[in-house]
Amino acid sequence: RPGGPEVRDLAGRRVVVSAGGTREPLDPVRYLGNRSSGRQGVALAARAAARGAEVVLVAAHLEVPAPTGVRVVDVGDARELRAAVLAERTGADAVVMAAAVADFRPAQVTTAKIKKDPATQDAPVVALVRNPDVLAELAADAPEGQVVVGFAAETGDEDGDVLAHGRAKLARKGCDLLVVNDVGGGAVFGRDESTVVLLGRDGSERTVGPAPKELVADAVWDAVGERLGRG
Ligand code: CTP
Ligand code: CA
Repeated sequence: RPGGPEVRDLAGRRVVVSAGGTREPLDPVRYLGNRSSGRQGVALAARAAARGAEVVLVAAHLEVPAPTGVRVVDVGDARELRAAVLAERTGADAVVMAAAVADFRPAQVTTAKIKKDPATQDAPVVALVRNPDVLAELAADAPEGQVVVGFAAETGDEDGDVLAHGRAKLARKGCDLLVVNDVGGGAVFGRDESTVVLLGRDGSERTVGPAPKELVADAVWDAVGERLGRG
């Protein structure tokens, strides 16, 4: 299996990885955010660089340091992330969307800080609007041969188990690979180990872990490499 420290199987390849979690501003001091630490995306960027790729890391509020040897483009909210990823994907062999992109953002961003009314117990109602789906957009017009990878944290529910949800999401997004994480136990965010299933558009299915995020990252690049080889 490729992926050892000395294997430079991604030499000459250019890859884009998004990592972290977007923050959607509400007023000058507040935002809607999520618990993504950026660890998996950072591990993906680090392993791609170690395997010889030229790496662009589109970073949204990482809680961990970015690896050395990668180019970092910092972004704040989902629309900034979209713009950065779409600009960087040109000429890329692979784009991996490990970032947690907010599905919604506040419809209004006030220029002044939202204040309590001291006379009442009233609370504001925050209206939300949908953010663009970056992964679906990437997959819809990917250049020939570019491998597009998504991540999905899923839980089983009355509509289906984790893999059923993952398969449906893969089809909906139209990407080449979907890395599905079972978060039913709630023990994934900010942790160093995870178990994932790599679902391929070609019907393939591979379980990885429980394993450190570096090993998950190597498995993702192995799967990407196989698909690049086919192109
Ligand atoms: N994603 C994206 N743009 C969004 C939301 C998600 O590019 N606005 C990407 C994520 O980076 C991830 C993949 O889509 O790679 C799946 O994210 P997920 O939140 O699981 O998918 P959603 O389509 O938002 O579905 P859900 O309603 O389950 O949140
Ligand atoms: Ca979502």
